[in-house]
Amino acid sequence: MENMKAVRVHNYGGPEVLRFEDAPRPAPGSGELLIRVHAASVNAIDWKARAGYLKDVFPLPLPFIPGWDVSGIVEAVGSGVTKFKKGDEVYARPDAARNGKGTYAEYVVVRETEAALKPKSIDHVHAAAIPVVALTAWQALFDTAALSKSQRILIHGAAGGVGSFAVQLAKWKGAHVIGTASGRNQAFLRELGVDEPIDYEKTRFEDVVHDVDVVFDTLGGDTQNRSWKALKKGGILVSIVAPPSADEAAKNGVRSAFFSAHPSSSQLAEIAKLVDAGKLKPVVETVLPLSDVRRAHELNETGHARGKTVLKVT
Ligand SMILES: NC(=O)c1ccc[n+]([C@@H]2O[C@H](COP(=O)([O-])OP(=O)(O)OC[C@H]3O[C@@H](n4cnc5c(N)ncnc54)[C@H](OP(=O)(O)O)[C@@H]3O)[C@@H](O)[C@H]2O)c1
Repeated sequence: MENMKAVRVHNYGGPEVLRFEDAPRPAPGSGELLIRVHAASVNAIDWKARAGYLKDVFPLPLPFIPGWDVSGIVEAVGSGVTKFKKGDEVYARPDAARNGKGTYAEYVVVRETEAALKPKSIDHVHAAAIPVVALTAWQALFDTAALSKSQRILIHGAAGGVGSFAVQLAKWKGAHVIGTASGRNQAFLRELGVDEPIDYEKTRFEDVVHDVDVVFDTLGGDTQNRSWKALKKGGILVSIVAPPSADEAAKNGVRSAFFSAHPSSSQLAEIAKLVDAGKLKPVVETVLPLSDVRRAHELNETGHARGKTVLKVT
């Protein structure tokens, strides 16, 4: 069996448990693609899985390779694959939880249904910064909240990986966007398209935001608890971090939802079109070689990212 370079977790723990080492190169099965990884990006789920916080949600076989985002070139296809061929430039959000063989590697196998042709107008580093965060924002705003033109939305953590895409997707839809971030990110929020940036270090958002149609919660905890009062009656609070209280929703006359994003080839294809049309732009704050993965996790774990950290693999 051929080997490849990969990052593996043999025991749960801090960034020091991430090992850059040789691992067996995977082979595509029926309906699957083998991708030569050019870039993988870092998401909070990666370090939560590394630390063992998710082991009850989806058990991963140890050692596992983290990574839920990839952009690269199709090296081989398994039987039954119809949409892709060797040499196609693709990006994907695979379900790495199914086998513990994620994207922090020179090669990864993904299902055909998890990939799409990458946006042509950007390189692999920028394309790798898209799948998880863009699919999450898309599914939260459009599939769950049914955000429509002229509605008002409050987006928490608007400068982060998910938030920066949520802002751009909401603006594309024609919504009015209110976004929260620290003082250092206020100008950045304006650049992204936020109509009303709020500096959470100076202003309590619930004092100034009222009657929004949608709150998008990327933080949970106290931020989620204080968000009920910002909604209009019949509005919806969508969280991707913690299930909101059904009692609080009923008390405030609003709806609530919690969800985990899922892979989607068709949504990635839509998103690629929007990127190529100049409507969406991935925000890459830091690029590091795969071997510097510990530093990449340390940066993501601060909870103060502006856009994404990307691991360059080739
Ligand atoms: N359920 C799902 O399917 C799903 C999918 C993707 C992500 N998630 C979860 O969603 C969360 C966010 O992910 P992410 O990738 O966007 O994280 P991220 O890139 O690390 O972004 C965090 C952002 O939060 C901001 N922030 C921190 N404290 C804040 C506060 N009190 N008020 C407003 N903004 C604040 C930071 O801005 P400042 O530096 O300006 O403070 C930073 O830009 C993570 O917990 C992740 O696990 C869930």
